[in-house]
Amino acid sequence: MLNMKNLNLKDKSDKLYYIGGIVRDEILGKESFDIDLTYVGNAIEYAKNCDIQILKINEPFGTVRVLVDGKEVDIASTRKEIYEKAGHLPTVTEIGCSLKDDVLRRDFTINAMAKNYNTGEVIDYTGGLNDIKNKTIRVLHDKSFIDDPTRIIRALKFSVRFDFTLDKHTEELREDYLKNINYDMSFKRVKKELIETFNLNSQKAYDEFMDKNIYKLVTKKTVNKPTVNIENLINKYKSEINPKNIWLIYVGTLIDLTNLELTKEEQNILNEYKNLKQSTYTSDFDIYKIFSDCTTEAILLYAILDDEKNATRFLDKLKRIKISIGGEELKTIGIKPSKKYQECFDYILKEKLNNPEISTQEELKLARLFFGL
Ligand code: CTP
Repeated sequence: MLNMKNLNLKDKSDKLYYIGGIVRDEILGKESFDIDLTYVGNAIEYAKNCDIQILKINEPFGTVRVLVDGKEVDIASTRKEIYEKAGHLPTVTEIGCSLKDDVLRRDFTINAMAKNYNTGEVIDYTGGLNDIKNKTIRVLHDKSFIDDPTRIIRALKFSVRFDFTLDKHTEELREDYLKNINYDMSFKRVKKELIETFNLNSQKAYDEFMDKNIYKLVTKKTVNKPTVNIENLINKYKSEINPKNIWLIYVGTLIDLTNLELTKEEQNILNEYKNLKQSTYTSDFDIYKIFSDCTTEAILLYAILDDEKNATRFLDKLKRIKISIGGEELKTIGIKPSKKYQECFDYILKEKLNNPEISTQEELKLARLFFGL
């Protein structure tokens, strides 16, 4: 985590500003995920003239990544943009514009403040300070969500992260957009924001996502909100879940994620869930056999959407039951390896699911019994 105080870059231009999230976070007294600077003019030229290591240059966007005191810092040129194709990355129309024009292309007033790198003066053209004070998320213009619908999810993310609410007009603009979504959008960016939002593990975010139809950005299909409290469920099994998959337990409840490019691991979780949904079971043994092969993430999706009782029964109880003897032990009692081994293990497992207290000695006894010894 970062803050402004630990950056040591010698600037003589007086045209360098902290911008966006880092200014917001400092005012809120929070640490930031990254350091964004903007240079009023051409940041690439500026960086080349400074005594700093350049890591990466993005010429069309006029941005440059530099290394300062071992930290990666992005310096952007002030720029104007237009959204030629709504929902997609904007096109840069001018590099080196005024600071005011640069902040006016941004998402919310709370993200549109700049702080002079040398003097520390906060420049607030859009009323961001006031909105932070009033815990409000407000767009800068009426076309904001049309230009970039990912901002609807960003608003959700910030509202949950900071416990802010949307200003009334912003909420109306959101509602209007969600009634008439243009699905020709960059779902890669949608996915990134969904991950950042739902990895916060917040039922409040999910309730808003479902109740206000924000989920319609992901799928055209109507989805009923499940009644299970997902946040509580995740907290209960947190140690068994990969933290980077938490978002999928929330968003996976939409089932239709065809628009989001899922990784192999993510697709696997959804496939496991779909298999669970199609499975039938009549005994603890069936449940054990079916659920043992699945990730906790898939089992939680099943708990949320289908059968909470049996899914949590598996996670709380059945999963912990293991037979302690293996092939080696069977060999020591004189049984040659064969396909019958597995049948024997299943036989012992069935007994153990009924009585988890069975000892290793008793397991061996059962094995002898199974083989008629
Ligand atoms: N921005 C925007 N519209 C977007 C994404 C970003 O206007 N769809 C602007 C905002 O001014 C934002 C800045 O670009 O502050 C940097 O974007 P990003 O790093 O994604 O956001 P942060 O505000 O830094 O948020 P976080 O703390 O989550 O990194």
